[in-house]
Amino acid sequence: MALDVAALSSCTRCRLSATRTRVVIGTGPNDAVLLLVGEAPGRQEDEGGAPFIGRSGQLLFTLIEEEVGLSREQCYVTNTVKCRPPANRTPARDELEACRPWLEAQLAELAPRVTLALGLTAAREVLGATLSMSAVHGRARHLGDATGIATYHPAAALRDPALVAVMRADLRVVRTFLEAS
Ligand code: URA
Repeated sequence: MALDVAALSSCTRCRLSATRTRVVIGTGPNDAVLLLVGEAPGRQEDEGGAPFIGRSGQLLFTLIEEEVGLSREQCYVTNTVKCRPPANRTPARDELEACRPWLEAQLAELAPRVTLALGLTAAREVLGATLSMSAVHGRARHLGDATGIATYHPAAALRDPALVAVMRADLRVVRTFLEAS
């Protein structure tokens, strides 16, 4: 199913539509080889309309540039839910389910070589991960013909700088799969 951008832009499938400023669909080229999936838009994203435009995005794209060799403009970037949860709480199960068809449409349309889930919410939604991030990060999984990998959310690495080295190592796994495919 092709992504219906007009329908997504006016989506009211869940309660987040009542409190959002904008639907944050995603940014990047449709032929991106790397798809990044975060958790949910934050305040800056809700106002600016693009994912990861705050501090965690700065860290994320610095690390991706350095370890994977891709710029933000070369990646497609989105979130498990497209609307900001109030006070940046974790999206609720029914909100994730309501938004899942949009993410599935993006995955089908983009058909990236590697999908990188950022944080446990994305790892659960995209990779079906059931364990903790410490158990699942950096391990490649089959996503159809493509590869799925999870790493820590950059906001976690801003709180705990020791995680930056772990993210770098996970991103080198991403690079290996991109180079091999
Ligand atoms: N955190 C996320 O998970 N996504 C964003 O777009 C911004 C912050």
